[in-house]
Amino acid sequence: MRPFEYYSPTKLVFGLDCLKDKLSAELQRVGAKKVLLTYGGGSIKRTGVYDQVQSELQKAGCTVFELSGIEPNPHVTSVDKGAAICKENQVDLVLAVGGGSTMDASKAICAAACYDGPAWDLVLDGSKIKKALPLFTINTIAATGSEYDNTGVITNLETKEKLPIGSPFLWPVVSFLDPSFTYSVPASQIVAGSCDIMSHFFEAYFVRALSPIAQGVIEAAERTVMKYTPVVLKDPKNYEARSKLLWTSTLGCNGFATLGNDPTVFPCHAIEHEVSAYYDITHGIGLAIITPHLLRYFLEKDAGLTPRYVEFATNIMELKREDYESDAALIEAAFKKLEDFYRSIGVPAGLKDVGVTDEHFKAMAEHIDSHWIAPLSAFVVPFTVDDVVEVLKRSL
Ligand code: NZQ
Ligand code: ZN
Repeated sequence: MRPFEYYSPTKLVFGLDCLKDKLSAELQRVGAKKVLLTYGGGSIKRTGVYDQVQSELQKAGCTVFELSGIEPNPHVTSVDKGAAICKENQVDLVLAVGGGSTMDASKAICAAACYDGPAWDLVLDGSKIKKALPLFTINTIAATGSEYDNTGVITNLETKEKLPIGSPFLWPVVSFLDPSFTYSVPASQIVAGSCDIMSHFFEAYFVRALSPIAQGVIEAAERTVMKYTPVVLKDPKNYEARSKLLWTSTLGCNGFATLGNDPTVFPCHAIEHEVSAYYDITHGIGLAIITPHLLRYFLEKDAGLTPRYVEFATNIMELKREDYESDAALIEAAFKKLEDFYRSIGVPAGLKDVGVTDEHFKAMAEHIDSHWIAPLSAFVVPFTVDDVVEVLKRSL
């Protein structure tokens, strides 16, 4: 086991009707008077979540300012807009209601509201974040786990960059998770969300040193997503299935599944974020397309990883080792089963199906090397720019 430090100071409130009286009580507990309510393109108004939130805000006696229209793959321009509202009105808390995009943008708003300069400075250098407004989140989709981590991902359309912002100041203070709020998530977003959850756990799994606790959590998480995604696609108002997906998603990104392991540097995310930055594709779909190609390529480069891939085949994809004549056949069958799963829930086969061409592959690979949380050489199998280009070509 590797040494670690762990601190995840977010209070989670999970369950049916979990906002009722509790949101107002939490707002009063932290002394929130002026609140910026942030949300996306309007799903929360259609579902009635907005009304529930407003009623709690009124109960708590808060003055409410609003920032709506936060984009999927949120733009830094929205962050600057939100920060300006906070500064002008001395807002003392941000309440994000929506998916990862709204929560991520809101984290950046909390930081930028306490910073004298453009928000993009803080994306480029998280150490410039010296304080941030407190954040509450109400998550409405099982996907990113942003409600339980201290990072966000922000897009700059001008520079064609999509980069993480992170700081110890960005943990939400309280996050509310009502699985019934996810009933209305459309099929395409259910699929994208589930693929994102799976990727977060795969990223933590394919490292060299893995603690048994982490391994168990990750394997259970992957099986849970593969079991319940088809259930919610068929039966969107299945509370139990929605609950299981939502709770699994919440644990995906807060580091819990990496404790005691070699650190992960999220190689699939590094590559996908580049593709999203150029083509604005849906994050989870890009991840699902790239994942099998990247994982196969790692093994091609380093056969020493075979034992982990055998565990992936038996413990996650639930194949029996004795049914295959070699580890290689077992592992390939596992990838086939994973790809069949992705196809069965509607993930397109290749990046070209979502409009991507090979035009920018080299620039993407070079950008990862200089801008990601770690250079390409820190991948589980040290990569070069050419390796990234090869994985992207195979993913086309
Ligand atoms: O904008 P609205 O109208 O709310 O609609 C959203 C949006 O169109 C809709 N939606 C969300 N909840 C809904 C709903 N529609 C109906 N009913 C509901 N209950 O879904 C669409 C997508 O929303 P978005 O917030 O973009 O989805 P997601 O949660 O997948 O977030 C994706 C973003 O998070 C980043 C991604 O890169 C991407 O920018 N990530 C953030 C991470 C983090 N903070 O730790 C980690 C992830 O790896 C990821 O990179
Ligand atoms: Zn992700």
